[in-house]
Amino acid sequence: MNRLPESLQEAVSYIRGRYNNTIEIGVVLGSGLGNFISEITIEREIEYSAIPHFPVSTVQGHSGRLIFGVLAGKRIVAMSGRIHFYEGYTPEEISFPIRIMKLLGVHTLLLSNAAGGVNASFKVGDLMIIKDHISFATVNPLIGKNLDILGTRFPDMSEPYSKMLIEKGKTVAGRIGIPVQEGVYFGVTGPTFETKAEYKMIRVLGGDAVGMSTVQEVIVAKHAGMQVFGMSVITDIGIREEDNIITHEEVLEAAAAAEPKFTAIFKELVKAI
Ligand code: HPA
Repeated sequence: MNRLPESLQEAVSYIRGRYNNTIEIGVVLGSGLGNFISEITIEREIEYSAIPHFPVSTVQGHSGRLIFGVLAGKRIVAMSGRIHFYEGYTPEEISFPIRIMKLLGVHTLLLSNAAGGVNASFKVGDLMIIKDHISFATVNPLIGKNLDILGTRFPDMSEPYSKMLIEKGKTVAGRIGIPVQEGVYFGVTGPTFETKAEYKMIRVLGGDAVGMSTVQEVIVAKHAGMQVFGMSVITDIGIREEDNIITHEEVLEAAAAAEPKFTAIFKELVKAI
């Protein structure tokens, strides 16, 4: 028997025993983008390790926290510490926090990530609003018996990223004078960065940026009926012919440098929702 409904209920009860406000918006922070948290008036923080059944990182040595609070007059929950497939989590574990958010009342999910650019017009530090994605060898998190109480067996994916939120994102970015790109996020498993041939293939297949997260979260969020917005920070350019060594340090550095622009847009977007 699938114990997922009970596990979700136990986790939600635990959280509700500690934080009982209605939450509207969920935020997932990508690599190097954690500073966004400092914009939140924090009302409660809960360690992942304290929440029943919540996935706890065995890889990084620290478990991460859910942050509950107010931003721009809206109640939000933010994940400080993301769960990645390449760390060895199952697709169901990666989905768990997104489903918890839904059960806590979240109707809109804002996702961010660090990504490699494969569109020749992109530069390191650019922000890309995700208009669509391609799942490439990432395992679909909905494989297995469908739990009808969570969502339908065959979810539509014609609009994984809300057109309305994309428009809002572009509008607020324009209003505060931050240029944004728009493009297709190509989801891979990692943890290796891509070979030169793979970066070229990703471009040919229709990707503008490539990264190791987000796609599974979006699938589960859509299954649960949430509205999704995604933004990538371009931290490296994959299609350079020479000098194409990419390191995690470089990714973190570039994400941290672009973080103020990212935070400003997410904050304005939360205000506009
Ligand atoms: N490839 C995959 N994932 C990434 C990259 C990349 O170039 N940069 C940041 N995350």
